[in-house]
Amino acid sequence: MTREKIEKLGTVLVTGGAGAIGSRLVRRLLADGAERVIVVDDLSSGYEWLLPADHRVQLVKRDVCDLTSMNLEADRPLVFHLAAFFANQNSIEHPLDDMHTNGLGTLTALLWARDHQARRVVYASAGCSIAGHGIDAPIREDMPVSLNLDTPYQITKALGEFYCNYFDADVPTVRCRFFNSYGPGELPGPYRNVIPNFIWRALTGEPLVITGTGDETRDFIYVDDLVEGLMKAATVSAARGEAFNLGTGIQTRVQELAEMVIKACHSPSGIEYAPRRLWDKSLRREADIQKARKALDFQVTVGVPEGLERTVAWHKENRVKIESAVRCAS
Ligand SMILES: NC(=O)c1ccc[n+]([C@@H]2O[C@H](COP(=O)([O-])OP(=O)(O)OC[C@H]3O[C@@H](n4cnc5c(N)ncnc54)[C@H](O)[C@@H]3O)[C@@H](O)[C@H]2O)c1
Repeated sequence: MTREKIEKLGTVLVTGGAGAIGSRLVRRLLADGAERVIVVDDLSSGYEWLLPADHRVQLVKRDVCDLTSMNLEADRPLVFHLAAFFANQNSIEHPLDDMHTNGLGTLTALLWARDHQARRVVYASAGCSIAGHGIDAPIREDMPVSLNLDTPYQITKALGEFYCNYFDADVPTVRCRFFNSYGPGELPGPYRNVIPNFIWRALTGEPLVITGTGDETRDFIYVDDLVEGLMKAATVSAARGEAFNLGTGIQTRVQELAEMVIKACHSPSGIEYAPRRLWDKSLRREADIQKARKALDFQVTVGVPEGLERTVAWHKENRVKIESAVRCAS
């Protein structure tokens, strides 16, 4: 396999393309001239309305585990594998579903990519996998793999990385380890990330609930910055076979985050505290992004206050659809 730089996007497969990050990636691929974007998504946590109306987008509402029996026509596609059973708490309650999509689904996506001579597979891994908990320093890509991960989701996300490395001889792979993504496209819900849930509560005047003391930190990355990293991972020759952290290198305290959300929403909501979830053992999380900066020229352009303003604006614009999705889920 040559180490060519991929300049023409051509045909792209995005598994999980109707999800929070996938739908933003699809927009970016279209803007950058992709000829055809095939989205395979069973809509279990994604929404058709998140996808842009564009004749180049083909939505296949199917389980990613059926990919090899779908007869999708695609000549040397670029593949972004984002379909996943999301996320930690959900995987604890439904470990078999987690293994189905994140384990079997990833293996199937790689087999399909190999058989269709994909130019590259970009795999959505997670910053919470691989190195485990109890790390105070910024997390680097070359830290040893932990055998003591905290949830089935972390285990199956790590498993996907093992499979990527195994298949890399036949189909070029890049593993991107996402930290906490947020932004337009992510709806609130019991298994979703903290930011859409904080925004939902702030906009509906309910208290924001912090599970812990509020001193815990996370590395929050605005979704379009993360998508920029994915585009670089897909097209820069030197990325092949490598793992990259896609975060910001900046920690934000959850307490501070809650206060920023209340301010951005002009909300009267207060803050309440609940016990930290038992599996949630990481008090600090920060990505070391030096490798991505150097190899991919990865840049973070949107800080948390600005990102929150944009995300709140998106929630307000889509309030009716979001309310209806929340009602259906409860
Ligand atoms: N959001 C984050 O902070 C974060 C952090 C680390 C890693 N990731 C990874 O990034 C990827 C995208 O995350 P997201 O936040 O957009 O989540 P998401 O839940 O919004 O997107 C996942 C998409 O996959 C689809 N899907 C689920 N099971 C499927 C199946 N069996 N077959 C086909 N489609 C299926 C869902 O309908 C959804 O549209 C995931 O792989 C996730 O593990 C996300």
